[in-house]
Amino acid sequence: MSGNNWVPVIAENKLKAESSKVVFPRGIAVLLIRKAADELFAVSNRCAHMSCPLRDGKLDGYVLSCPCHDWRFDIRTGRFLDAPEIAIRVYETRIEEGNVWVKL
Ligand code: FES
Repeated sequence: MSGNNWVPVIAENKLKAESSKVVFPRGIAVLLIRKAADELFAVSNRCAHMSCPLRDGKLDGYVLSCPCHDWRFDIRTGRFLDAPEIAIRVYETRIEEGNVWVKL
């Protein structure tokens, strides 16, 4: 694995398609969302509004709604749909050596 910002976060077979999980690489709360076997996203688990955990949010397509006040984010870009200058952090992911890796 090139560069030392890539961190293995979970065994690939522990994250099934259509599921999500919060992991904590180097103490950072990252929400992994696996929509399909080859469609994996990683976003900050903290909402850009008041930091509510996004893991309890509702996913509709690629739009994740915060459970606290319904701010909606595109999990592909992190963008807040109602004001594109606001975003949550998104992380690159890859699957290698049987693990999911996240680039911090
Ligand atoms: S904390 Fe997420 S919408 Fe308010």
